[in-house]
Amino acid sequence: MSDRRLNAPATERNSEPILAVLQRVLPPTGTILEIASGTGQHGIFFAPRLQPRKWLCSENNPELRLSIAAWQDDQPSANLYGAIALDVCENPWSIERGELPDNMTTDDLVTDPITAIVNINMIHISPWQACLGLMAGAKRILPPGGILYLYGPFKQKDQTAPSNLAFDRSLRESNPAWGVRELDEVILVAESYDLKLLEVVPMPANNLSVIFQM
Ligand SMILES: C[S@@+](CC[C@H](N)C(=O)[O-])C[C@H]1O[C@@H](n2cnc3c(N)ncnc32)[C@H](O)[C@@H]1O
Repeated sequence: MSDRRLNAPATERNSEPILAVLQRVLPPTGTILEIASGTGQHGIFFAPRLQPRKWLCSENNPELRLSIAAWQDDQPSANLYGAIALDVCENPWSIERGELPDNMTTDDLVTDPITAIVNINMIHISPWQACLGLMAGAKRILPPGGILYLYGPFKQKDQTAPSNLAFDRSLRESNPAWGVRELDEVILVAESYDLKLLEVVPMPANNLSVIFQM
């Protein structure tokens, strides 16, 4: 085995619970754009289990894009596309500028347009601008009825889990621009971009799935 495959242990714990929600809330067809695909472990797990949908990875960090490619070499799936470079803070996003992975053509996006965006564990490990950029891009890209799926820890007024408060403190110590986000603030931003809150699903380890619809 090669290997540039990186391992994010959290993906081994959260993939099954996230899959159960995705199977229920994602549109039944189309291409799912994953923002911040990380190591690529989610993509290889979700793609074969979410057919006939297609799964398109994206990742801003070049080292992680190598990991995504290595995982996909190791565990290919017919409905899984390679990773494009994508920084959510840009406007337009790379995909809007026509940048596609090697194994995807513009015809593929005509046959299977993007119907959903999935973003796991990003908005607390990036500046708040990344959350704003994510919502802005979702508004530009998603069709009516399209889904934006977020997963991660959130603050919920006075009900925030102690583990998430501690996580928030450690994130801010690493980088003052990072931090566990207040769910209500994320919802307000989403609404300002015409994304309607559909559902908040409690997940293991005090995480949430937060589902919006365009
Ligand atoms: C904790 S990792 C999560 C990765 C993966 N989704 C997972 O669950 O394993 C945070 C991710 O956010 C990405 N990220 C941070 N800032 C970003 C930005 N401005 N645009 C796109 N992705 C960004 C990082 O590159 C990294 O992949």
